[in-house]
Amino acid sequence: MIRAQAVIDRAALAHNLRRVRDLAPDSRVYAAVKADGYGHGAVTVAQALREADGFAVSSLDEALQLRWAGIDKPVAMLSQQLDVTVCDQAAENRLEIVVFHDSQLEVLASYIGPPLTVWITLDSGMHRLGFASERAGEIERRVAALERVEVAGWLTHLACADEPSRPDTRAQLDDFAGATSGRAGLRSIANSAGVLAWPEAHADVVRPGIMLYGSSPMLDRDAARCGLEPAMHLTAPLIARNRIAAGETIGYGATWRTPQDMDLGVIGIGYGDGYPRHAPSGTPVLLNGVRVPLVGRVSMDMITVDLRDAPDARVGDRATLWGGGLDVDEVARHAGTIAYELFCRLTPRVRFEVV
Ligand SMILES: Cc1ncc(COP(=O)(O)O)c(C=O)c1O
Repeated sequence: MIRAQAVIDRAALAHNLRRVRDLAPDSRVYAAVKADGYGHGAVTVAQALREADGFAVSSLDEALQLRWAGIDKPVAMLSQQLDVTVCDQAAENRLEIVVFHDSQLEVLASYIGPPLTVWITLDSGMHRLGFASERAGEIERRVAALERVEVAGWLTHLACADEPSRPDTRAQLDDFAGATSGRAGLRSIANSAGVLAWPEAHADVVRPGIMLYGSSPMLDRDAARCGLEPAMHLTAPLIARNRIAAGETIGYGATWRTPQDMDLGVIGIGYGDGYPRHAPSGTPVLLNGVRVPLVGRVSMDMITVDLRDAPDARVGDRATLWGGGLDVDEVARHAGTIAYELFCRLTPRVRFEVV
């Protein structure tokens, strides 16, 4: 009997990419597969998304993993610090470097290897990475003076695109448009929320991540309303069904008390598998199509659920923790986090299967 299992659905990944294409038909798509494909397996995802125009990763290691697996599309490294070795590896493996800091320009100035392709990140308001927009002209001149460096284009990142009513995104778009106006090169702005809610952010290249995995980044609409399908189905078996008397407490810290004589189920997944320890009582779990709320604290290897609405559930039945029938975003909300984190923190103990 397999314990916790994550089934990765390639058809769902491909469907979600088509959804991006429908929404941004005139843009190239660089699929974000950083953090091991948001926990889905970067190579698996990149192979399933072979129709993408390129991939976005965080680091050199992540980029090389794709190359070694035979992925030959453009790969951009979004937040890789530079030194000469990184530059050499980037050139050798045709990796695109995202430049966001003066320290990188200094390394590029001393670089003497084969030609490199770079994107220039402007800070249009998020104040995380990028050159201040007022410096666009200066940075453009400095990069143009680097003989072995070719500019693919200009990039910025949106801080609040998931909340369409906020004015921040409009301000960022205006700032970026002003800073890049008249300059050569492609433009790339939109993450998933930008793809879904900000057509004016689509520009030449979109960089969706979370929506490809079937989670909605939007606060005002769920994944189904965004036309997305879950790419990960996380399941685990019911390993015990126990009758517990009224008034008894359940699990570590005795945080939940049975309101009546009732059946509780024990499911073989816990924080040792990456199920969020802070998921509170009431977090939904799906068993044979019925919601069986979590009760008591999450343990390392198991959770307990209320089986009052699942009289037919038997030991060996598989529960869904998220995926088909149970939106990962709903589980994330209960656990006080986001789907990104739930996906990324599954541990090696979870058995992965690709279908
Ligand atoms: C620079 C950049 N572009 C694109 C993405 C993809 O974002 P999302 O997963 O929200 O679509 C990220 C992810 O954090 C990012 O850092």
